Amino acid sequence: MAEREAKQRAGFLRGEIERHNHAYYVLDAPSIPDAEYDKLFRELQELEAAYPELLTPDSPTQRVGGSPLAAFASVRHAVPMLSIKTETDTGAGGALAFDARVRKALALPAAALPVEYAAELKFDGLAISLRYEQGRLTQAATRGDGETGEDVTQNIRTIRCIPLRLASEAPAMLEVRGEVYMSRPDFERYNERQRQLGKPALVNPRNAAAGSVRQLDPKIAADRPLSFYAYGLGETAGWDLPATHSGVLDALAGFGFPVCKHRIVARSPEELVAFHAEILALRDKLPFDIDGVVYKVNALAQQKELGFVSREPRWAVAHKYPPQEALTTVEAIEVQVGRTGAITPVARLAPVFVGGVTVTNATLHNEDEVRRKDVRVGDTVIVRRAGDVIPEVVSVLPERRPILAPEFVMPVRCPICDSAIERPEDEAIARCTGGLYCPAQRKQALLHFASRRAMDIEGLGEKLVEQLVDGGLVQTPVDLYRLALEPLAALDRMGEKSARNLIAAIEQSKTPSLARLIFALGIRNVGETTAKDLARHFGSMEGLMAAAGDEERLQQIPDVGPVVAAAIAHFFAEPHNVEVIRGLAAAGVCGEPLEPVAMDSALSGKTFVLTGALPTLAREEAKALIEAKGGKVAGSVSKKTDFVVAGSEAGSKLDKARALGRIILDEQQLMELLNT
Ligand code: IVH
Repeated sequence: MAEREAKQRAGFLRGEIERHNHAYYVLDAPSIPDAEYDKLFRELQELEAAYPELLTPDSPTQRVGGSPLAAFASVRHAVPMLSIKTETDTGAGGALAFDARVRKALALPAAALPVEYAAELKFDGLAISLRYEQGRLTQAATRGDGETGEDVTQNIRTIRCIPLRLASEAPAMLEVRGEVYMSRPDFERYNERQRQLGKPALVNPRNAAAGSVRQLDPKIAADRPLSFYAYGLGETAGWDLPATHSGVLDALAGFGFPVCKHRIVARSPEELVAFHAEILALRDKLPFDIDGVVYKVNALAQQKELGFVSREPRWAVAHKYPPQEALTTVEAIEVQVGRTGAITPVARLAPVFVGGVTVTNATLHNEDEVRRKDVRVGDTVIVRRAGDVIPEVVSVLPERRPILAPEFVMPVRCPICDSAIERPEDEAIARCTGGLYCPAQRKQALLHFASRRAMDIEGLGEKLVEQLVDGGLVQTPVDLYRLALEPLAALDRMGEKSARNLIAAIEQSKTPSLARLIFALGIRNVGETTAKDLARHFGSMEGLMAAAGDEERLQQIPDVGPVVAAAIAHFFAEPHNVEVIRGLAAAGVCGEPLEPVAMDSALSGKTFVLTGALPTLAREEAKALIEAKGGKVAGSVSKKTDFVVAGSEAGSKLDKARALGRIILDEQQLMELLNT
């Protein structure tokens, strides 16, 4: 490609990539599939590698590029970054007091028209000033002391929703102010990953945002999922400013910045009060933390007239909400047992009102987290409850620790069923090995057992399982098949008719496919697909049970790796689980070896020839699988042969298949074909 052409193409690609970025990260409306985006991105990377002189700092390939800094350079803000006054009254009074102050300062008579306000969210992150010259991001700075901040451009460039280049109508010089934050889902995901890797988790989204932006190594910042909302301006040049703050935000959205949609123009203080209440009701559902709302006088001319007092604008105020973090004490540390036996340490707390509810428990996630935070009974701790996520202990105040506070020790046996608790060396999660026998796991396990894709027992929902287990009617899935009408009908919201229906549904579930039955057992890491593979391979529950102790043998099955093999071995090593399976069989529940032959299967009527030794399947097994799908297995290759399945040391049959141009499959391809 000629250099001129390459340059043109690179420009085109950058424009396209930026456009898709904007759709994805700002508008939340992806405009092309990820794979297509990746293709454009790779093409641009290749072009830039071939023509390094084409590389520009505002290229989307250059978001993460810089090397670690020794220290941040200082940036003097042309327009200071001020803070805003906080209205301490968290009730309606806050909005009314602000309006009264504004009217007085503007010397408006009582009868004058209402002042117009822009109301928006008060994001709980880190304030940032972004400087664009000729539409290109040239500098990003923290607030610092308001006069001088730190140059964090390298880190800010890694935030995908911040444009590196602006739409062409953007002013020649533009400073945009806003908040860098970490969304709650991103925060949870990031921490989950950290915990799984046994690495320290981030404390809360605000610290996460502030800490990430202030990393000297841009690669660390790039690894942290950050977002941004624009809420105001710094210095500008060459721009005929809109008349109102809301107009400014509209314009910023038009230039490509993320602007939060939860904003209004209020024409009375009552509307501010209503906004405050509405957003409070919405707070838990927002995907990011806010600590209040902000009211701003909408007309920029009035803002100018109002000016500042003691470094705070008279035209804006923050109307806060009750905090999402609070102090309380740890009364006990217990462990909870989840569906797959995962043991979660939980702090029992002195009741504390936080994030809109009274919190008495908070998760400590896992053993390593308890150690890392060093949480002990008697400790004073910060608890956090934000959104509808489970409250968690953020940190301990060590100076308030009582003298005798023993360290937390993970129990070695399940507090519910007394089975061994085990924690594989390379995992963060300890688990109860009790499986279906453990009452705490039983309810969830029963629900899974009855679920649509497992035994498909209609009507056996959460409420009912709860009653059945708590009432002692059902301990293991085996008991379902022994349920009598009378006690069932006597349950809450049941009656005879529902009880009859349920018993019929349970009866009907007695002949699942073997694959469904295996899936229904809820063996860790054994999903539907693996259950099918196991059913095919072993043909019967007995076969599976006989082989389950031999992890190496299990790994011969396609797609069964060491983790799955270990989980299967573990499950069957627990006598209680084996008892359940035997009990099911005794009750008449046994898996049919294979799904019934699908008459309209793509394989029905097709002829296969097997030759050579297949890596995992015996010839008879392969034959049975093919026949189960309606295929035929013939002994020799002819023009009528559709597929030849060839293993190692396949001889003349393979040669003949090639000569006749038949389709040749290996075992893996055969399995894929059978699975379609
Ligand atoms: S306006 C001159 N609007 O709150 C007014 N600030 O004390 C400048 N903040 O740390 C601020 N959301 O980062 C404004 N919608 C919003 C805001 C907001 C959060 C933060 C800001 C600063 C503090 C102001």
